[in-house]
Amino acid sequence: MALVLGIESSCDETAAAVVRDGEQLLSNVVSSQIATHMPYGGVVPELASREHLRAIVPVVREAVRGAGLELNQLDALAVTQGPGLAGALLVGITYAKALAFALSKPVITVNHLEGHIHAVLLERRQSRAGELPLPALALIVSGGHTHLYIVNRAPSGGWNYQNVGRTLDDAAGEAFDKVAKLLALSYPGGPIIEHLAAHGNPHAIPMPLSQIKIRQKHKVTDDGSPESYDFSFSGIKTAVLRFAETHDMQESIDQRREAVASLPDPKAVDFLPHLDGLTLDLIASFQEAVIQDLVRKTLRAAEDLEIESLIITGGVASNQRLRSEFERRAMAERLRVFFPSRKLSTDNAAMIAAAAFPKFQARDFAGDHFSAEASLALGSR
Ligand code: KG4
Ligand code: ZN
Repeated sequence: MALVLGIESSCDETAAAVVRDGEQLLSNVVSSQIATHMPYGGVVPELASREHLRAIVPVVREAVRGAGLELNQLDALAVTQGPGLAGALLVGITYAKALAFALSKPVITVNHLEGHIHAVLLERRQSRAGELPLPALALIVSGGHTHLYIVNRAPSGGWNYQNVGRTLDDAAGEAFDKVAKLLALSYPGGPIIEHLAAHGNPHAIPMPLSQIKIRQKHKVTDDGSPESYDFSFSGIKTAVLRFAETHDMQESIDQRREAVASLPDPKAVDFLPHLDGLTLDLIASFQEAVIQDLVRKTLRAAEDLEIESLIITGGVASNQRLRSEFERRAMAERLRVFFPSRKLSTDNAAMIAAAAFPKFQARDFAGDHFSAEASLALGSR
């Protein structure tokens, strides 16, 4: 039996969790910094590091206590090495190293993106549903990434990831956040846009389909590897900006900003009285365009690569409309689609502890000298 404590601090959540044998979630604590970053409409790196420093000790303590354990009962510590904000990552890494040293336990480094994939694998095992069909095509769709990976078991017993697509500009979550900021909605943009989009017509305003060509079927590059399936969201974001400009929305945007300025954590109901029908249609049409692009390209890649199971994970995967569109289209194409629970879609440490388990089995422990890797890549390309 292996009890792994996961620690995650790559962006704006300080998180710790204990997972047994990569399949049993014993505790899962997430301390969010949303309130700190809200006034800025995005994550401020210096503030993120400071908040991680403040939260890390109580969050880890609560995760260990919540699992009904003492620190010395842990078998290993797992920590996110990257990708993410360097200063934020360093807080988790430094704390994990110090704690591991004090307890004489090994440390396992985990790639944050690998963690998002393992959120799904963990919950499959926990529910005793068995391993999902492999290979799988994973779409990691978050504030920092829109990446497609072929996921498979490695001969060594670990996991293998091959990147076959990524965003060439904004990540999908980043587009949600930027559009929310531009329309004077709250941060992060995804959840508020999801709520407000339900009040608008998703087909009212035409949005540009991304200009990146969908590749030809079964096309391979010169070295025999599959073509990549890239995404681009800056065109959709710019279309929202242009629409707001050409429809003279600035005054109502400013009024809305002022109207909610005094609320510490404004919700959809607080914004609704300050949103006209056209703006709600714009919000709904934006969300729909992003979702249709994600679904279309991911399904096309699955078809080309002859992969029958999809993993859709990362913060944007908590969007209910995205989930139902993936489910509807996947069913029509006889694909199986797997999501994490909404709680494990956004950043958490359970996914880090789960991803560390195969490395624990392989005794793939980190030395003392590793550091944060802000641009850490996952797998091969
Ligand atoms: O995975 P995550 O928690 O952190 C990163 O690794 O980036 O993802 C955060 C991103 C933010 O951009 C946020 O706006 C987006 O996920 N997000 C959503 C929803 N909930 C969070 N996007 C669309 N719909 C949602 N319901
Ligand atoms: Zn993430």
